[in-house]
Amino acid sequence: MSITDSFKLNDGHSIPALGLGTASDGNVEEVVYAAIKNGYRHIDTAFIYGSEVDVGKGIKRAIDEELVKRENLFVTTKVWPTFYNRVSESLDISLKDLSLDYVDLLLVHWPVSLLADSDDPRAIYLVNTDGSVRYSDSLDDWITTYKQIEEEKLSGRTKSIGVSNVSEVYLKRLLDQVKTVPAVNQFEIHPYLPQKKEIEFNEKHGILVTAFSPLGSSTGALKLHENPIAVEIAQKHNTSTGSVLINWHVSQKRAVLPKTRSIERVVANGMKVPLDQGDLDKLDKIWLQTGTQRAIGLRWLDKNGDYLGFSEDDIEHKHIWAKD
Ligand SMILES: NC(=O)c1ccc[n+]([C@@H]2O[C@H](COP(=O)([O-])OP(=O)(O)OC[C@H]3O[C@@H](n4cnc5c(N)ncnc54)[C@H](OP(=O)(O)O)[C@@H]3O)[C@@H](O)[C@H]2O)c1
Repeated sequence: MSITDSFKLNDGHSIPALGLGTASDGNVEEVVYAAIKNGYRHIDTAFIYGSEVDVGKGIKRAIDEELVKRENLFVTTKVWPTFYNRVSESLDISLKDLSLDYVDLLLVHWPVSLLADSDDPRAIYLVNTDGSVRYSDSLDDWITTYKQIEEEKLSGRTKSIGVSNVSEVYLKRLLDQVKTVPAVNQFEIHPYLPQKKEIEFNEKHGILVTAFSPLGSSTGALKLHENPIAVEIAQKHNTSTGSVLINWHVSQKRAVLPKTRSIERVVANGMKVPLDQGDLDKLDKIWLQTGTQRAIGLRWLDKNGDYLGFSEDDIEHKHIWAKD
């Protein structure tokens, strides 16, 4: 049986729990098409992934073959920090690349704003002569991004709006300054980075949490699939560790975004596994043995040097960075 759960957002729309991640280096069109064919109704993409054209082709093929109607799909894209004051331009690019006339969810990708290259609107950052990244003037410029995203909701080019990688510290600053509470906050969560306090804060404010890098990301640095507790629970349910890691989120009412290049794994990752409370408790406690480990950390995005306010000061943790 596939995962068909969906969750109500604070704006009245619904988000399918199972979303396909598309930060991928291959086979995107085929995987998107296969995912839809096998019941996925939520596709997560972003300008920065460079995969929006292929995502659009996979969606178009599925719609053309009448596997799904556009209104039954949930497509997310995100505004990269160099577009912090050019949301409309960012969305123009994404919609054109995706061959869509609206998205279901538009997110601030990171709570950071970077100076753009006037010669190359697609450049993802600029550097100073010493190699440091060129930030915009104000730490709160990303809130301008969110305000422009609010306008896109009014224009109908996105149904819902939200944020990504926004910690409690930053979220408080946002909530003080904007009209619309984000519908979604997307950030890294898996048993090595359970983010309990962050999840609680979002849920208290009616913000649906979506987990990225649920399988430990493509770097292979986090050995989640080898974790003995995940392996034991997978064996108990006669399934894969991937399914266990994905269903851990769905069982706790979070949307989740597994990525794969493989048609076989995209089907397997969509399977429902009836985890019981004992399984969930065991998965919740893994980090006590491993310490917390982070796969995605663009250190150069962190102007304050505080990992964007994500607090892990109560636990011993080691970061494994995806990129240097
Ligand atoms: N908002 C943000 O800042 C942000 C950041 C990161 C990610 N995301 C979103 O979240 C999505 C998922 O995160 P992610 O791409 O970092 O990685 P992920 O989904 O945690 O892991 C992907 C890796 O797991 C492998 N894999 C997939 N299914 C598997 C299975 N059943 N068993 C074993 N290995 C499996 C994949 O290999 P194969 O491809 O070979 O199967 C790939 O190496 C992204 O694609 C993106 O949409 C958002």
